[in-house]
Amino acid sequence: MPIIAPSLLAANFLHLGEECKMLNESEADYFHLDVMDGRFVPNISFGLPVIEQIRKATNKVCDVHLMILEPEKYAEAFKNAGADILTVHIEACIHLHRNLQQIKSLGMKAGVAINPHTPINFLTDIIHDVDQVCIMSVNPGFGGQAFIPQTINRIKQLRQLTDEKGLNVDIEIDGGVTVENAASIVAAGATVLVAGNTVFKSPDPIKTISQLKAVS
Ligand code: DX5
Ligand code: ZN
Repeated sequence: MPIIAPSLLAANFLHLGEECKMLNESEADYFHLDVMDGRFVPNISFGLPVIEQIRKATNKVCDVHLMILEPEKYAEAFKNAGADILTVHIEACIHLHRNLQQIKSLGMKAGVAINPHTPINFLTDIIHDVDQVCIMSVNPGFGGQAFIPQTINRIKQLRQLTDEKGLNVDIEIDGGVTVENAASIVAAGATVLVAGNTVFKSPDPIKTISQLKAVS
């Protein structure tokens, strides 16, 4: 059964408390929280004060996806705001190994996100230090985009790499995940499904989450 991580980027921000309550009552495992700086990606979302409030509204895992430059400047602040998993982009980190050690030393799980154009084998020499890889299945910055089909191949490549090394690394897929394509994503080797629009624009989000969870 995959881990389900609804992305609150697609939630109704005027009703964030109710959206959190709905997720708490659902089979969702993580709250996926997308932070954008308008520099690494061409969009700005929400930041520390919002995450601090969401933290108070849930006991579920807060999976924070930083789409920002110089994430090392903010790692401690995100820990204090309540992040359990902190993910930085391979493309945004000049000293990725140092960034991951910093995240772990602060007591969080360390994630690395990788854009659609970045070869999976760029992870070869860092994979031992990673708890979760977030394979972007769209270009980061916006919800509601279409899943890039080549991602399936990339998931298989990463799964092969982690299997060869005997590592237990979660493989998270972010962008364009639907009830229809979830099975092929999981079959390729993904363990965590992020879903924004699929969950929050559904007429019955709790049921949609259950459908994603039931994928094998
Ligand atoms: C995109 C974000 C995603 C986004 C996914 O940059 O990282 O987490 O919210 O949204 P959907 O599932 O609607 O594609
Ligand atoms: Zn994300």
